[in-house]
Amino acid sequence: MASTHGSLLYEGKAKQVFETDHPDEFLVHFKNDATAFNAKKHAQLEGKGSLNCQISAFIFKFLESKGVPTHYLDINGDSWMLVQKVEVFPLEIVIRNVASGSLCKETPIEPGTKLCNPLLDLYYKDDDLGDPLLTDERISLLALVSSTKLLEIKTLALTVNGHLQEFFKKLNLLLVDFKLEMGLTKNGQLVVADEISPDSCRIWDLNTYDQEDRILDKDRFRRDLGGVLEGYSEVLRRIQEFSS
Ligand code: TMP
Ligand code: ASP
Repeated sequence: MASTHGSLLYEGKAKQVFETDHPDEFLVHFKNDATAFNAKKHAQLEGKGSLNCQISAFIFKFLESKGVPTHYLDINGDSWMLVQKVEVFPLEIVIRNVASGSLCKETPIEPGTKLCNPLLDLYYKDDDLGDPLLTDERISLLALVSSTKLLEIKTLALTVNGHLQEFFKKLNLLLVDFKLEMGLTKNGQLVVADEISPDSCRIWDLNTYDQEDRILDKDRFRRDLGGVLEGYSEVLRRIQEFSS
């Protein structure tokens, strides 16, 4: 297993990706940077990187145990993750179980409305364009992914949602919505990549009725609610308690 990193290949808002001495493995560093609204809002939250790395690692391992392929290989220190090299599609795959966030800004649906079926929204991952919402026709026009692969992506995303909803429910947490990224390994296998953490999910505490207090995810940062790290730590605490 690689333990030291080589050159920096890519730096995003919340993570850095480094080469390793193995051509098919990358090291991902989870940063403490918190950003929202396409980085118009930015802060350093000491410990966030580590929390997201630990939570993502657990969730990837859980998904693997359910037969869902992911890029995860190992944890490599506090906020470092060893992953398979993956060619990631420029898509943000969002699955919504309860209406919140942009869905409620862009439609008349009331926040908190339980959706009869999970809603899958695809966004074009392009910061300069502000990650616009896509249609199947636009995906085809832009040749982002073939229609066969798109169907595979959607099917896998809904499978992940089923597993995660059930998992979070056991922790007394509600998975409101979340964002996935997917890509292809060198063998052409479709895998879940990036991270699955309170940065990329909306998670509500089912033990808490107050509409703000129940929020355990990045909405605490987006909405200036305070207690961001406390929220993330509570998610990790419940995961660890469940798995011990
Ligand atoms: P939205 O309601 O703002 O469209 O967000 C839906 C979900 O996607 C929510 O759980 C947060 C996550 N998300 C990201 O992970 N990255 C992003 O850049 C955005 C906008 C949302
Ligand atoms: N991650 C995005 C940003 O950095 C948006 C968000 O999560 O709200 O701006």
